[in-house]
Amino acid sequence: MADPIEHFFDALWQDYIAMTPSASRIHALFAKDNPGLANDHVAFRTFDLEPIRLTSLEPHLIDLGYRRFAPYRFEEKKLDAWGYVSSNPDAPRIFLSELRTGELSRRAREIIERLCAEVDDDRVAEASVFHAGPLWSPPSWEEYCFLREESEYAAWVAAIGLRANHFTISVNSLRVAATLEDVVARVEAAGHRLNSAGGKLKGSPEVLLEQAATVADQIEVRFAAGDRHTIPSCYYEFARRYPTPEGELYQGFVAASADRIFESTDR
Ligand code: NI
Repeated sequence: MADPIEHFFDALWQDYIAMTPSASRIHALFAKDNPGLANDHVAFRTFDLEPIRLTSLEPHLIDLGYRRFAPYRFEEKKLDAWGYVSSNPDAPRIFLSELRTGELSRRAREIIERLCAEVDDDRVAEASVFHAGPLWSPPSWEEYCFLREESEYAAWVAAIGLRANHFTISVNSLRVAATLEDVVARVEAAGHRLNSAGGKLKGSPEVLLEQAATVADQIEVRFAAGDRHTIPSCYYEFARRYPTPEGELYQGFVAASADRIFESTDR
């Protein structure tokens, strides 16, 4: 495929819908009457340890034509993040976050350090690392449960690995002018559950961004010693953006909303 951005997002999407069958069904629901259906953003999660910390993954995004737009910090969830925008108007925004592992307990840190020590640097040198999944041998179920008690995010990355955490339907791209409420009603009518942490609709026209998200799908994952357990995988998000006072569509994220959207992968 000629266009590296298109190739990157196609591969990400294929990996994501294999992890998130509900997203494929929801996408089809909206795509059938919205030929211009677009992604608002794609989000990734990682640890703040080499070789997969945010600053080590970021060069791939820069190579694809992205630039840093704004930083975000989540105190309670111990996360730092950047939002990225592309010079290509058809490319979705990217949200890349990392867990501040130094703020976890010693045992949690040791588990995560062991996983990151297994990562092959050559794998990280390829942009396809963004849909590589786990770059380490699976943690034990007991380690997963231990991490989950401290940080749902830590447990998610340990078990699910590096891949799209969510894609996001751009409500602005729908052909028939729709509100986020319309979109949510249609998703629920099709039998999907929405994340209700902090209310189903997060944000407002005043903060220039409204968002909602499904509850993550559940998939069976292999843990150490051949143990298999069903855990949350990925979710689908919906975002509606409003123009800034300068008349341009708002390009950032809203930390208070993102904070609750992270909870879409909670049990
Ligand atoms: Ni998001």
